[in-house]
Amino acid sequence: MSTLNLEYLGHAGWLIEGDNFRCICDPWFGPSGAFFSQWLPFPTNRDLWDASLLSNLDFIYISHAHEDHLDPWVLEQVDRSTVFVIPEFKDPILRTTLSKMGFTDVRELTRDKTEIFKGVKVKIVEDDGYMDQDSCMLLDTGDHKILNLNDCHLDFGVIEECIGDVDILMLQATSAIWWPCAYDYDDQDLRDKCIQKRHNAVRRAIKYAKTVNAKLTIPNAGPPFFRDRSLHHWNETRRDEANPFILADDAALIMRDEGVEAQALTPGDTIILGETIQTKIDQEKYNLVYTKLTEYVAKYAQQVQDEHPVPSHTTEEHKTMVQKFKKHVSNVCKTSQLYVPQLTFNVLFDFNGVEKVVVNFSEGTITTFSNQTINYEFTLCPDAMCELFKSRYIDFERFFLGTNFKCRRDPDVYNEILFTLLKNFDIKRLLTSEKIYAERKDLLNETYELEYNEQKYEVQRYCPHMLADLKRSGYVNESGHLVCSLHGWEFELKSGKCLTNGSCPLGVKQLKK
Ligand code: FES
Repeated sequence: MSTLNLEYLGHAGWLIEGDNFRCICDPWFGPSGAFFSQWLPFPTNRDLWDASLLSNLDFIYISHAHEDHLDPWVLEQVDRSTVFVIPEFKDPILRTTLSKMGFTDVRELTRDKTEIFKGVKVKIVEDDGYMDQDSCMLLDTGDHKILNLNDCHLDFGVIEECIGDVDILMLQATSAIWWPCAYDYDDQDLRDKCIQKRHNAVRRAIKYAKTVNAKLTIPNAGPPFFRDRSLHHWNETRRDEANPFILADDAALIMRDEGVEAQALTPGDTIILGETIQTKIDQEKYNLVYTKLTEYVAKYAQQVQDEHPVPSHTTEEHKTMVQKFKKHVSNVCKTSQLYVPQLTFNVLFDFNGVEKVVVNFSEGTITTFSNQTINYEFTLCPDAMCELFKSRYIDFERFFLGTNFKCRRDPDVYNEILFTLLKNFDIKRLLTSEKIYAERKDLLNETYELEYNEQKYEVQRYCPHMLADLKRSGYVNESGHLVCSLHGWEFELKSGKCLTNGSCPLGVKQLKK
């Protein structure tokens, strides 16, 4: 039987070696971190960096285009003839970034297009939505299967269909986004929402592990370490049940309680997959991180806090950035056919001390704030926004993921279209996103039959949030509500009312008994 060695490189990074096979996944070591230097790997992996990691590789797998997976600092050091395997997304950003860096052998795979490297079958299952793109990779040696799910939130039905059972599952079991932390909720409300977010992240990981019957599950790919001082409390309170950025060891504990064999690792730890599964853990390092967490976090913060600050810009540069923003919004309003007409409310972009700009996308108006009614409000750091407007792609997600902004909404209802627009603000990407959206929208007419408490319902099959297949991944909870297990949204079964987000009801019809 063949043996595979999996070395954890920190965050979502892995070095996977077989008898004569070697690949690396999502290596992230750049000292400036990601998302305007707000994210760093937790625990740190700096001591592990060695350029020789990048030699003699059969391929490098990059799961998606986020900077904590597609790290230009690492890629600059990679031989340009190295093979890359990436998912084939409709949005070409990942492919073009690698091509522009001079890589000549970039292979795009899908669930239907696999490759074999020295007897190891490589399958990438793409999650190509109008809002997000991500992927997972299945390695199949014939003796063993490894699923690197990283932070890809694939539909459970797709996982069942395309993956089957695996030996090792590596996946994210923590929150990694700005909701609810960046919102101006009162303390109790924020606490309740954070508990819910933490709970949902682990529940989803457990469901993935059970879906693929993993013999061993490794929580990884987050949580990140936040560099900005204003966010340090999210680093410091990770044992608190109201911190959505649950640590890998706490997640593993909950998973084990639920019957999922799980193990947290620190960078440099290895798993040897042969006749049995062995984990080699540097216990001293593990204790330093997880047992002496308070000291570890304080030391890490001190080491990195003054590194790579967001560059300051002059008042003139701030004003120029706001002008560029207005011009860009105007182009977006002229170009968008599907998203903009749905955004019929005022959004305030407060460039903290520079200007407050009110945008009504559907009306195409861009005005200075003067007490208009505002439904969504973003307070943004002008220096970081200047940096954003220097980038090739002006998309707000890079900025949002950094989490150091403020958001307010009235009513407190998530608007998926607004976030989809802001995450795909670049005009070309916006058009691609709208094309996918148009194709997917037809799915919303599909229904399935659900029986609960001797009553039959005809239910919209795809979740109004991000189109998870509710027939496969929905369940009725103890309150009689239909829950989508992908992100935990709850729907009242009788009316279809969304209890998580009032504006996104589910189509439900009671059928005659
Ligand atoms: S797809 Fe996100 S809650 Fe259903």
